[in-house]
Parts: sequence; structure tokens; C-alpha cells
Amino acid sequence: MANRTLIAATALLLGAAPIPASAQQAAAREERAEALPAAPGRDEAFGTCSACHAYRLVAAQGLSRERWDETMTLMTEKHGMPKLEGDERRVVLDYLARAHPPKRATGTGGFQVPFAPQ
Ligand code: HEC
Repeated sequence: MANRTLIAATALLLGAAPIPASAQQAAAREERAEALPAAPGRDEAFGTCSACHAYRLVAAQGLSRERWDETMTLMTEKHGMPKLEGDERRVVLDYLARAHPPKRATGTGGFQVPFAPQ
């Protein structure tokens, strides 16, 4: 009996192994551009940046325009994102900078002492 439970649990684990990846894709599919702050370039930014990973990963960041620009370059150079240039790049960058600005200007590169009084 205990053995059977173990086998079932193992089978479940083995069967469950691919789930994290597909769950992530499912989560990405559930994301909608309409749920993001409305501003010009939203659909472009959402479409461009959710092609490989959840947009959540992008929205979790708060960066200056310059840092977003660097992030886009990084996505192209390191991860093979099609290079965006000219107006296309400007539109996406405008949105990222506007919708996801630095969270707080601390002067310490965003580092916050976790136990500091708020
Ligand atoms: C061609 C695929 C691809 C595209 C398109 C893409 N990324 Fe990424 N991105 C990745 C990969 C791969 C990672 C690292 C693995 C992960 O965390 O999923 C990543 C990670 C990130 C991270 C997290 C970096 C960190 O240090 O935690 C951010 C922020 C990010 N991407 C922003 C963007 C933005 C903004 C866009 C749209 C302009 C974009 N990505 C489009 C592939 C892509």
C-alpha cells in the first residue's frame, strides 16, 4: 500500500516535471495588454516584450529610459530579440519609460535597506 502510494507519487512527480514551463506559458497567455497602464506604445511594448517571457518580468522593473534602452540592447545581444530601430524602438522605449519608471529615487541605485523605517 505504502509502496503503491510511493509509485503513484513518483509517477505524479515525473508527470508533473514539464508543468512549470507550460504553466509559465499559460500565465503569459493570460496577460493582457489592456491590463497595463494606458499610454501610446502599450500594444507595441507588450507584443515585443512578451514574445519570450511574461510581461510580468518587465513590469516588475522600474527603470530610467536609458536603462530600458540598455535592457532592450541586452535582449537583442544576449537573447536574440529582433533588433528594434528608429520609430519602432522609440515607441516601445517611450512606453517602458513612462509606464515603468524607477520606483524610487534613493540615490543608491535602487537599493533599499529592508529594515529601514518607511
Ligand atoms: C527573444 C526573446 C526575448 C524577447 C523578445 C525579450 N526578452 Fe527579456 N529576457 C529574455 C530571456 C531569455 C531572459 C532571461 C530568462 C528569464 O528570466 O526568463 C529575459 C529577461 C528579461 C528581464 C529580466 C532581467 C533580469 O535581470 O532579471 C527583463 C527586465 C527583460 N527581459 C526585459 C525585456 C524587455 C523590456 C523586452 C522588450 C523590449 C524583452 N525583455 C523582450 C528573452 C527575451
